[in-house]
Amino acid sequence: MTNQKKFLRYDRNQLACDGVPFADLAGEFGTPLFVYSADAIRGNYRRIRQAFAAAKPLIAYSVKANSNGAIIRVLRDEGSGFDVVSANEMDRVLMTGVSADRMIFAGVGKTADEMRRALKAGVKEFNVESPAEAVRLDEVARSMKTTAPVAIRINPEVDARTHRHITTGKKENKFGMSLEAARGLIAAIGGMSGLRLDGLHAHIGSQILSDKPHEEAVGVVDAFIGDLTAKGHRLRTLNFGGGFGIAYRDDEKPLDLKGVAKIVCGLVKKHGLELILEPGRSIIAPAGVFLTKVEYIKRGKAHPFVIVDGAMTEMIRPALYDAYHEIRPVAKPSAKSAREKADVVGPVCESGDYLALQREMAVPQSGDLLAVLDAGAYCSAMSSNYNSRPRPAEVLVDGGAAHLIRKRETRRDLYRHEVVPSHLE
Ligand code: LLP
Repeated sequence: MTNQKKFLRYDRNQLACDGVPFADLAGEFGTPLFVYSADAIRGNYRRIRQAFAAAKPLIAYSVKANSNGAIIRVLRDEGSGFDVVSANEMDRVLMTGVSADRMIFAGVGKTADEMRRALKAGVKEFNVESPAEAVRLDEVARSMKTTAPVAIRINPEVDARTHRHITTGKKENKFGMSLEAARGLIAAIGGMSGLRLDGLHAHIGSQILSDKPHEEAVGVVDAFIGDLTAKGHRLRTLNFGGGFGIAYRDDEKPLDLKGVAKIVCGLVKKHGLELILEPGRSIIAPAGVFLTKVEYIKRGKAHPFVIVDGAMTEMIRPALYDAYHEIRPVAKPSAKSAREKADVVGPVCESGDYLALQREMAVPQSGDLLAVLDAGAYCSAMSSNYNSRPRPAEVLVDGGAAHLIRKRETRRDLYRHEVVPSHLE
């Protein structure tokens, strides 16, 4: 997908989000800070809807990418559905007034209690990941005198050619079932009165930039559906997952979303199925910025360190996946500024605490602001309190105004749930 950054512009040399200067946001809300553009979220959602228009899919935004209620509401108002991986994620969506029949419940480790909650709410479909899970879901549904609609997650054994931590469709991954296992389970479901087979689910990984793995997966799914139909099974849905990659680097070739959409739409049309998609990153990552302030410049022997107030606690992606996030200075440096290769690092006591390594930049000064791009997905959602760092505030820029959508955690929040045994008082 194209890296849509139109909401980020320099106005009189000051970087702004939909016209609201980041310097003003830092002044009002402090740093580090997550900033999201509501219009960018809408634009990203609409781009996917447009590309897949031929199939009129249920686009179930993958809540795990960023579960803030304001973001869920922006997408609710676009008509989005939601993909949830825990009953608590489901509650977040229910709280916004979205009805459960627009929700897909996924995940390899659903507890019986979560199944009960999701059945009671009436989710559209459970993505079932193993025969053992099917047995449990059947029991739970029968005990509630209801029937659970299920999609069997198959593992198409396709290499998504992405980082090894986010590929999910290879045979060594924990996700989904082999085609043999799925065949066996589908036959068994006939005898499980608590389950109704609705369809198939195939998600092969995240941040996929090439259309080839999608194409290969479509081939596998096509043959498998053909096989099932020949055996007399009637499917209604195909959930093709998410995973549409974005161009984090300027020189990265964006995913040909329209090309992928064409083959996926062709597949569901051929078999007369309703299409469900679960995009997360492609909707929210490019719409978010992590704003951080430079504390110190340290002239190391090898290269300068730009020490900022943001850290791996808010942005773990570089440490975890060697991820690259573009960094822009909030105040545009003059074209004549000398450029150097620097490491942009946080205050956390870990060598892995960096936002960028060996990044060529005009080395900023203490007090300068930096904007870390594509920080909307899997950043705030994966944040932690390591080193007793409060989670940052989050702001949504909508209609030219900044709205606080998450308060900065306080010192008290850090020990709120700790209990001191009386003899240690
Ligand atoms: N559906 C399923 C079954 C998934 O496992 C995922 C992501 C999605 C949909 C949404 O995928 P997306 O469109 O966002 O690629 N923390 C990692 C990514 C983990 C992805 C987990 N599953 C990262 O920061 O790159």
